[in-house]
Amino acid sequence: MSNVKPKTALTKMDIYRPDTSGAISADPIRLSVNEGALGPSPKAVAALRQLGDRLHRYPEQIDRKLVEAIATYSGLDAARILPSNGSDELIGLLATAYCNDGDEAIITQYGFLVFRQSVTVAGGVPVTAPDTDLTVSVDAIIDCLSPRTKLIFLANPNNPTGTMIPRSDIERLIAHVPDHVVIVLDSAYAEYLDGADVDFTDGAEYVDQYDNVVMLRTFSKIFGLGSLRLGWGYFPSDIYATLATIRGAFSVNAAAATAGAAAILDKEFYEKSIAHNNKWMPLIQDSLRQAGFDPLPSQANFFLIRFAHANAASQAHEYLARHNILLRKMTPYGLPDCLRMSIGTDAEMELVAAAFKDMAGIKDINP
Ligand SMILES: Cc1ncc(COP(=O)(O)O)c(C=O)c1O
Repeated sequence: MSNVKPKTALTKMDIYRPDTSGAISADPIRLSVNEGALGPSPKAVAALRQLGDRLHRYPEQIDRKLVEAIATYSGLDAARILPSNGSDELIGLLATAYCNDGDEAIITQYGFLVFRQSVTVAGGVPVTAPDTDLTVSVDAIIDCLSPRTKLIFLANPNNPTGTMIPRSDIERLIAHVPDHVVIVLDSAYAEYLDGADVDFTDGAEYVDQYDNVVMLRTFSKIFGLGSLRLGWGYFPSDIYATLATIRGAFSVNAAAATAGAAAILDKEFYEKSIAHNNKWMPLIQDSLRQAGFDPLPSQANFFLIRFAHANAASQAHEYLARHNILLRKMTPYGLPDCLRMSIGTDAEMELVAAAFKDMAGIKDINP
């Protein structure tokens, strides 16, 4: 046994590692990681092909073309847009930058697990605010505030629940929280609400108004670039300066920057992706309901399916995996009776609908 030990907080940590391995075939119907349904934007793929003979060059530390493209897409101030190695990197950097040992960060009961993990790695203490009906409760978060609170992490819409915090609740939270506490609004799935008739804010407007509100975004979802690891954040100037200083100098590689700049301005692909999601979310949920299952409402590109009990969810997961369909188990989130499924291609959705129909008659799965 080695005498080398990591710091104490790490030995008590639940390890969160999404399973991206295949099922029975090398090419499973992978609906387990909330990836974009339509693959990468063709413009991103074309841009990547141009990169070949410059691979020996280090990338720019903050890629100007990428930042300009993000600013054009979002209408936000380019000077405060920071790209990153996936938005996961920014979650980690925020926890590292703002938690001294023993400081508290509020996370929510069914919030994205990377928040908890990053706070623990940073030496902070995650404090869990209970959800109400699988939805973030601003009152519960306010109840968790203490003199040691340094950060609040919220995903909106949230993964894995797919539920949304309305604008009025975000504003109420900001009004209640002392201005030295950083409020992180992770809007990884915001694009899927573009044009939706709901009271949603990605939070950027509050970054412009308050020195303690930040917004995180990703290229891994609607823009279909999960493999390249690219995210970005929009920050008040002081937080921007801190994060830009501690971020790995070359954490965004040239391939990610090149593809990202093309993807985010590919309007045609973007609109096609939203239309595809808007078409399939009600269709696939209806199919599942007709087969006797219980899909939960969602504002993102994935949703939960609630089974009668944990064992039924587990059996369904296995049945689907045997049929080359990968959904995500929710046991690490404390929802063992649920599976999470993302929207895939037309063909994938047809196959999934048929598989649920077949499962309807299996007593262990659908009692
Ligand atoms: C809420 C949320 N934030 C961040 C991420 C991570 O995104 P990225 O791939 O940019 O690290 C995910 C990915 O599943 C997510 O669901």
